[in-house]
Amino acid sequence: MQENKKKKITIKDIAREAGVSPAAVSLILNKKPCRITEEKKQLVREVARRENYIVNLAAKSLATRKSEMLALILPDIENTFFSSLAKQIENRCRQEGYSLIIASSDDRRENDKKFLRVLEARGVDGIFLILSNELLGNRQELKKELSLLTMPYIMIDRTFSGTDCGRVSFDHEQGGYLATKYLLEQGHTKIGCVYRDDKAGSGKNRLDGYLRALREFDIPVLEKYLAKGDYRMESGYLAAKTLLETDATAAFVCNDMMTLGFLRRLHEEHKQVPRDYSIVSYDDSLQNYLFGIELTTIVQDIKVLAKEACQLMFGRLRKESAEKKEVILPPKLKVRNSVWKWGL
Ligand code: RIB
Repeated sequence: MQENKKKKITIKDIAREAGVSPAAVSLILNKKPCRITEEKKQLVREVARRENYIVNLAAKSLATRKSEMLALILPDIENTFFSSLAKQIENRCRQEGYSLIIASSDDRRENDKKFLRVLEARGVDGIFLILSNELLGNRQELKKELSLLTMPYIMIDRTFSGTDCGRVSFDHEQGGYLATKYLLEQGHTKIGCVYRDDKAGSGKNRLDGYLRALREFDIPVLEKYLAKGDYRMESGYLAAKTLLETDATAAFVCNDMMTLGFLRRLHEEHKQVPRDYSIVSYDDSLQNYLFGIELTTIVQDIKVLAKEACQLMFGRLRKESAEKKEVILPPKLKVRNSVWKWGL
C-alpha cells in the first residue's frame, strides 16, 4: 500500500505557523541576527524541530552567496604527510565554521582539472591546492585552469610564482641542502639521492639542495648516485636496489614514503641502519611507525603549514587588507640515529 508521503515542510510553512516572515525564519534557523522576540524565535525552532526541517544548504548559499564549504585537493591521501596536513586544515576550517571537502588526485593532472571544474560548479567558497606534479609541470595549462576559478584559492607545498593567489610552502631546496650537508659533515662523500624528477616541484628543489651541498664540499656529482622516484614506496625500493649496486655509503631520500621502500630493500639485503647504511629522510612522518630505526630527517612542521595556509585563505574570504602573497617556511634538520660517522 502506497504510504502517504508527508509533504515536505518549507520555510513558508514554518513562517505561517509561527506568525513571522519567511526571511525571519531563514535568519533564525541560520543563527543570523534579526529583530524578532526570543519567544517567536523559540517557536520557529520548535516547529522546525517537530517537522524535522533541515536547512536547504543549496538555497541558503544562493541567498547568502556563501556555501561555508571549502575544498582541499591533494596528490595522494595514502601519503601520511598529506593526510596529516588535511586533518590539520580541516580542524582549522571547522573552528571557522566551514566544512572541508578533501579530494585526492592520485597525482594526476586530469583529476586536478576535473576537481577544479566540479568545485567551481558546486560553488565552494575557496580551494586549498596541493597540485599534482603533472599539472605543476604544465604551467600554461595550469594557468588556464586557475583563470577559470571565481573563488579564492591557496597553493600549498607545491607552488610557483606567476599567479595572484596566496602560496605557502617550506623551502624545499634548503631542506635538501641541510640533509646532504649533515651527511657530508658525518664524513660521507659517496651519497646517493633518491628524488622526484618533477622538473618544477618539491622534488627538483630538493635535488638542487643536494647538489649545492656537494658543491660547497667540493664533492663531484656522479650520475650513478642519482636515483629517480615518484614519492611512493615502490620507487624507493627500486632506487635502493640501484644504489646498493654502487659504492654509496649513504642516501638522502626525498620523502618518507620512498624511505619506507628503501628500508624494505635494505632489510632484504640484511643491511642495518646506520651500521651498514646511512639514511636521511624527509617529512618526519614515520617516527611512530618504525621500530629499531631512529630516522634523521627534514621536518616540515605540518601544523605551521596548515596555520599559514588557513590564514591566507580566511584573509581572502574576509577581504582583509594587506593580503600576504607568499610564505616560505624554514625546514629543520632533526638528528636522530640513522647516520654512521664515516671515517671520523
Ligand atoms: O611526501 C610527499 C612530499 O611531497 C612531501 O615532502 C611534500 O613536501 C610534498 O611535496
